[in-house]
Amino acid sequence: MGATKGIGIIGTGNIFGQYYDTIAQLDYVDLKAVADADPARAQAVGQQYSLPAVSLDKLLGDPAIDLVINLTPPAAHVAVDRQIIAAGKHVQSEKPLALSLAEGQALLAEAARAGVQVGCAPDTFLGTGLQTTIKAIQDGRIGTPFAAAALWGGPGPEPWHPNPQFFYLPGGGPILDMGPYYVTALVTHLGPVKSVLARNLASDRPRVVGSGPLQGTPLRVETPTSAAAILEHHNGALSTVTLSFETWASGNQLLEIYGTAGTLQLPDPNWFSLKGKIFEADGPGEWVELADSAGFVDSGRGIGAAELLRAVQAGRTPRTSGLLALHVAEILFAINTAQPDDGPIAMTTRPEVPAVVPLGADVATV
Ligand SMILES: NC(=O)c1ccc[n+]([C@@H]2O[C@H](COP(=O)([O-])OP(=O)(O)OC[C@H]3O[C@@H](n4cnc5c(N)ncnc54)[C@H](O)[C@@H]3O)[C@@H](O)[C@H]2O)c1
Repeated sequence: MGATKGIGIIGTGNIFGQYYDTIAQLDYVDLKAVADADPARAQAVGQQYSLPAVSLDKLLGDPAIDLVINLTPPAAHVAVDRQIIAAGKHVQSEKPLALSLAEGQALLAEAARAGVQVGCAPDTFLGTGLQTTIKAIQDGRIGTPFAAAALWGGPGPEPWHPNPQFFYLPGGGPILDMGPYYVTALVTHLGPVKSVLARNLASDRPRVVGSGPLQGTPLRVETPTSAAAILEHHNGALSTVTLSFETWASGNQLLEIYGTAGTLQLPDPNWFSLKGKIFEADGPGEWVELADSAGFVDSGRGIGAAELLRAVQAGRTPRTSGLLALHVAEILFAINTAQPDDGPIAMTTRPEVPAVVPLGADVATV
């Protein structure tokens, strides 16, 4: 096998185009083929992007494919990942990693036995936006971080997604759908979490598909639609997290981290290259936009898959490792399933925080 690594993608729905745009720009990886449970959809996407659209079996049997990206809905992630592992290929899955901690642990154990890596979204934290704020903390620019506030809310995805039912089924909801961006950001900035105290709720707001051929179709709601939590990090910092599909508007910052010598405003963790701001106690007395100091430049969804392949080649842990995703998922499961009388729930997983990506690194050599 030459220097270029082969990638296949299973799931050619709404998010496919963003992955294609990133992978097409990287010399290190080559998108070889796509597949979908709906062959007509795979054919249409294959034609649009001039890619071979093949059956799942053919894609999994292709020796030129080293890694498969899984872009199926949450409930299919583990079953599809297991097929990819059984085919002896590395996996990069969309989030969440699994629907329960036990399922996630079993998946990683299966991958270890097969000698392949499982990585998981989000990879947004590898962009210049969040890598720069992580580096600002590691450089001591806000002193010792002691608290963080993450607050994301929206009315739900049904106004814009043409097939949004999966957002309200197990594996979806604001906690497992948007939570991975926020909790991954908290863990990569402040380190792993020791315990989670949480409450959640689901309202009886009627939900219907808002656009496309299914417009007006009622949606079943089988997940909490709003939650709040306190995360106690191993380093002693306390994060508050609010995630909601019930919110019409919010004037609050999405993510702030407070330190003994300053405050960081993080950029939207759903994106790669937005800029954060800093207020330093001994600074000019105002917010200052951070110049990029770390991260893959102008990157996008899919960079994590290339980074995982590079990590395998270099014999190190991928930055979007399954162990990081399992920890984030364990925190999110605790928030999603917390009962009214629950006290703090102890976390059993404790991953290493991934190393900072040097500014402008090439994924082929990082
Ligand atoms: N849409 C977004 O903006 C967005 C953003 C970030 C992450 N994601 C994540 O990406 C994943 C996919 O989201 P989407 O919006 O593209 O969904 P989608 O419903 O538009 O597309 C999913 C595709 O997977 C296919 N599929 C379903 N089960 C399958 C199986 N068992 N085997 C093979 N193919 C199967 C479906 O036919 C469909 O084409 C989800 O996990 C979602 O959380 C989506």
